[in-house]
Amino acid sequence: MTQRLSGTEGYAEEAQELAVRYERMRQEDVHSPVLHLFPAPPASVLDIGAGTGRDAAALAARGYRVVAVEPTRELREAGQRLHANAKIKWLDDGLPELDRVLDLDRRFDLVLLTAVWMHLDKEQRRYAMPGVASLIAPGGRLVMSLRHGPVPEGRRMFPVTAGETTALADEQGLSTLHNGPGDDAQGRAGVTWTWLVFERPR
Ligand SMILES: C[S@@+](CC[C@H](N)C(=O)[O-])C[C@H]1O[C@@H](n2cnc3c(N)ncnc32)[C@H](O)[C@@H]1O
Repeated sequence: MTQRLSGTEGYAEEAQELAVRYERMRQEDVHSPVLHLFPAPPASVLDIGAGTGRDAAALAARGYRVVAVEPTRELREAGQRLHANAKIKWLDDGLPELDRVLDLDRRFDLVLLTAVWMHLDKEQRRYAMPGVASLIAPGGRLVMSLRHGPVPEGRRMFPVTAGETTALADEQGLSTLHNGPGDDAQGRAGVTWTWLVFERPR
């Protein structure tokens, strides 16, 4: 059996169905609470836990230079097929280590961690934040969404708060630009979101 990266449990099995669900949504709608805080294209973007690349492809089409990181092979390959014409650099890598991304030795104007952070336990979140923060260029931003509510069958997910996350970001010298609620784009009962945007000072 394939050894799966922790956090990705349940995704491979459902990849086909998830691809349909993810691609039905529009990037502008999903990111609407924080879209006004995105840097303008051709800013560089790192989308960590990119799923099937819906957001990566939409941003690439608008002129952003996008690297999409996705550890679940089935989702990554679906994304590469579905967005074959999109100018996206795909990487097989994952949190908390992000070894391959860190090996690129690049900084990004926008780092997206949307609907991913709650897949890490407390210890992994603490370990991961310095690496994530080190990938943000001076003046660049980190956009995160935290899912709250019931855990889907077969998934690995933990309760995570805005308070803990802003404290971890603060320890890395990031300032908080936005901390607010968001609706569930899929309208699922009991599911709510927190949107956070951090900035690395110039
Ligand atoms: C709910 S999906 C979100 C996909 C996309 N970011 C979006 O907003 O639609 C969560 C994604 O996180 C990925 N993931 C799970 N554990 C991860 C980890 N340890 N590191 C990076 N990505 C992970 C999953 O494979 C999946 O693609």
